Amino acid sequence: MDDNRTHLTKDGIRLYAPGDFAGMHVAGQVAADILDRIAPLVVPGASTSEIDKAIEDMIVEAGAVSATIGYKGYRHASCISVNHVVCHGIPSEKTLHDGDILNIDVTVIVDGWFGDTSRMYVAGKLGRKAERLIQVTHDALFKGIEAVRPGNTFGDIGHAIQAYVEAHRMSVVRDFCGHGLGRVFHAPPNVLHYGRPGTGPVLEDGMFFTIEPMVNLGRPETKVLADDWTAVTRDKSLSAQFEHAVGVTPDGCEIFTLSPAGKFHPTWN
Ligand code: MF3
Ligand code: CO
Ligand code: CO
Repeated sequence: MDDNRTHLTKDGIRLYAPGDFAGMHVAGQVAADILDRIAPLVVPGASTSEIDKAIEDMIVEAGAVSATIGYKGYRHASCISVNHVVCHGIPSEKTLHDGDILNIDVTVIVDGWFGDTSRMYVAGKLGRKAERLIQVTHDALFKGIEAVRPGNTFGDIGHAIQAYVEAHRMSVVRDFCGHGLGRVFHAPPNVLHYGRPGTGPVLEDGMFFTIEPMVNLGRPETKVLADDWTAVTRDKSLSAQFEHAVGVTPDGCEIFTLSPAGKFHPTWN
């Protein structure tokens, strides 16, 4: 039963009950399983809208609902962000070329719970610079996840990510952030992927949120194209992103969106 006497922290962050983790786990696994199963479709010559169509079919087949179709006027079951697109890339008839890297981001609703996750794919042969960017971005997400435990702060998460990325001479995007989720798609807090240790709201058992760092090979600045969605790097450098949804437990966190097939890591193939 959903508890309407919702407990919000002083920062307006909802604390979910222990029994709520199961719903988030199911939603997260539906989204992650779809990301596993589309991997073979990411090949040179494929269009991003055909990948999106496959995602939409898989969501329906799973008995789930797309959280993005109809969200603020968005019309697709995924965001597909190729090369210098940072996030919110709109699926289109444009085809993938050998060496393209892309983030595919899927959010589903299962029994009212939101599962939101994204990861990187490559069409054809992965280049050296792109491989490094993808690896650093992946590892930065896990540096952030390692900082998730009661008593730590959101600034600790952001700092862990930023320090790792900048040590590798790459940059963290400031213009987009992770977010609380659960029974809703986007809720407080804003989960920044940069910051100072000990700052920001204190993490508590029962908080559900995403961590979804975007990392650029060049400068961090972005701009949104005339379609009002597509965010690109201003300097046209390559960008990468990975996203997990997590729930804070008494001794750390549960990652709701782990890949059932172990394909999340960029070296899956
Ligand atoms: N899934 C994205 C996120 O991580 C949000 C996409 S909203 C859309 O928060 F409308 F662009 F699909
Ligand atoms: Co998200
Ligand atoms: Co997402």
